[in-house]
Amino acid sequence: MRILMVCLGNICRSPLAEGIMQHLATANGLNWEVDSAGTGNWHVGEGPDRRSTRAAGNHGIDISKQVCRLFRESDFDEFDHIFVMDKNNLRDVLALARNDEDAQKVKLLLGDKVVPDPYYDDTQFEPVFMLIEGGCKDIIKELTNS
Ligand code: 4NP
Repeated sequence: MRILMVCLGNICRSPLAEGIMQHLATANGLNWEVDSAGTGNWHVGEGPDRRSTRAAGNHGIDISKQVCRLFRESDFDEFDHIFVMDKNNLRDVLALARNDEDAQKVKLLLGDKVVPDPYYDDTQFEPVFMLIEGGCKDIIKELTNS
């Protein structure tokens, strides 16, 4: 299974989602490949925001080696599922879908809720970690029927 996590900057939320999902998948014996990307290009080539790296590190997950990249059309071919953090991400990724098959791969990580952007609020990184972790656990249950 190949899973892509997408947010706006690819430095705060989707790096956390990549790290958490990869960690949980491996812990559950699942041979899943997880990656992340952003819809905005400001931080391409950079590592994750230090506040995300710290929040993940507090939970034993190292995301420091990730490198920010832009979402691209070929991601629809490379990945089975594309999970976005909020409705702007949903709109921006769906705008690049070439057909229904592409579009059907794209879902909000939390189903009907959004993961708020913590970029302008230092206090939100831990709550965002917990939100994403819950979403990842639900997705694992759903995709493995467990
Ligand atoms: P993210 O947060 O989408 O969770 O990575 C953001 C990071 C940077 C910016 C916006 C959101 N920015 O405008 O630079």
